[in-house]
This record gives sequence, structure tokens and C-alpha cells, in this order.
Amino acid sequence: MKRFIPSHNKEKHKMNKAKRKAIIAGNWKMNKTPSETTAFVKELAPVVKDAECEVVICVPFVDLQNAVEAAKGTNIHVGAENLHWKESGAYTGEISAAMLCDLGVEYVVIGHSERRQYFAETDETVNLRTLKALEKGLTPIVCVGETLEERETGKTEEVLKRQITVGLKGVEDLTKLVIAYEPVWAIGTGKTATPAMAQEVHAAIRKILADTFGAEVAEKMQILYGGSMKPENADALLAEKDIDGGLIGGAALKADSFVALIESASKAL
Ligand code: 13P
Repeated sequence: MKRFIPSHNKEKHKMNKAKRKAIIAGNWKMNKTPSETTAFVKELAPVVKDAECEVVICVPFVDLQNAVEAAKGTNIHVGAENLHWKESGAYTGEISAAMLCDLGVEYVVIGHSERRQYFAETDETVNLRTLKALEKGLTPIVCVGETLEERETGKTEEVLKRQITVGLKGVEDLTKLVIAYEPVWAIGTGKTATPAMAQEVHAAIRKILADTFGAEVAEKMQILYGGSMKPENADALLAEKDIDGGLIGGAALKADSFVALIESASKAL
């Protein structure tokens, strides 16, 4: 695999992205077994050791232990793809925040559109999960985004506002979480929002955050783009002022393409 090339473009970082550190997070969804996870992390770790962005892999529950073990002593951070909001108890098939913390997991994806679409996730349950994750010291990656129908009927901002205000209600320190903007129509479809389209929505999200929680905290929050991000489009997306990284599905499953995205983020810093 090609070697990691660190960024030489620090000036841009100072001008554009202020003090926000870029994050490249993979969301594996229902892919890879535990042994494939170990192999992937071992392949990835030496190549990205000089990455200037945060490198995160969010993996299925059964892969977490192998991911954490293989990532020990590296700059790769491990996340889960969901958690339950109850402390413990009779919730067959669910996983608690304490279980994730005990394993050494640091991040957790919350409210992904696939969970909203197939598993009855609502803004209210997103809120419960987010509060529990924060209480236990996990960093939530809270996903928001409009469907094609919502976009075409001019409801994008209204939907985002609802997802953000309800989903983040009662959060005391918003800088302890990350937002991922994932237009549902761009996930796994090969249709990416153009950089200008994505930037427009990211700026709108930052404005909603500023209006709801204050301008200072909004300026500090990392907002990731997700939806068919790949090596061919990452440079342009990540160069946008309000795009602070990516939450990546398909292109995060192969070390080569994931590394290319990490290089793009380092360049864009
Ligand atoms: P793709 O990168 O495969 O479009 O998936 C995006 C996503 O849903 C990440 O959470």
C-alpha cells in the first residue's frame, strides 16, 4: 500500500478551519468479521501513524474487542455503531454504554439514517442515546440528514433543525460530540452532494447550532460529511470551510481508499 504523505499546507488550516481538528471516521455498517477486523487494523496502523487528522473506525459490536486490541498503541480510535440508553437490565440483544467503555471504545455513531429507516430510531431515542453516551465519556457522532423527498419539497432546513434541537436537547457541552451530515439520498448511492451543496448545508447546520446553543460553541463543533465520500471527491469536499471531515461507509472498508481519505483530510487541514 502507498505510504502516508503528511500535509504541507498548514497556512490554509489557520485561515479556514480555525481550531477544528479534522476527523476521518469509517462506519463499517454490517461488514467484516472479527478476524478481518484485526487484519484491517494491522494493515492500516503503520500507514496512518503520521496522520494529522483523527482516525476513527466504527465497527460492529462483535468486532470491537479485536479492533481495540489491534489499535492499542496506535493513533486509531475505535467506535461502536449504536448503544442503548439504559444503564443495564432486561433489554435482550442490546448493548450498554458501560459495556463499550469497559472494552476501551471511544466513539459511538448515533441516529444513522439506516437506523432511523429500518430500526425505528427517532429524534427522541437519538437524544436518549446521546445523553447516555456523554454521561459515560463516549464521543457521540450524531447523524442528521434529509431524504430526497424532504430535499425536493424544500424541507431540508426544517428537518435538520428538528433533528438537531430534539436530538441534542439537554446536552451540556456540545464540543464533546461530533455531528455528521449525511444526506440520505447520497448514502451508498454513488450520488455525492457537490462540495458547494454540502458546504451550504454544513453552514446552515452551524447556524442552527449557533442560534440554538450559541455562536462560540457552534464555531468549535466538528461537522463531518457522509454520503459516497471517496478518494476522487474528498479533496474538494474537505476543502470547504465548514466540512471538518467525513463519516465514510463503502470507501472505509478497503485500507487503500480509507488511507487516501486520511491523506486528503491531512492536506485540507
Ligand atoms: P457511503 O460512504 O457508503 O455512502 O456511506 C455513508 C454512510 O452512511 C456513513 O455513515
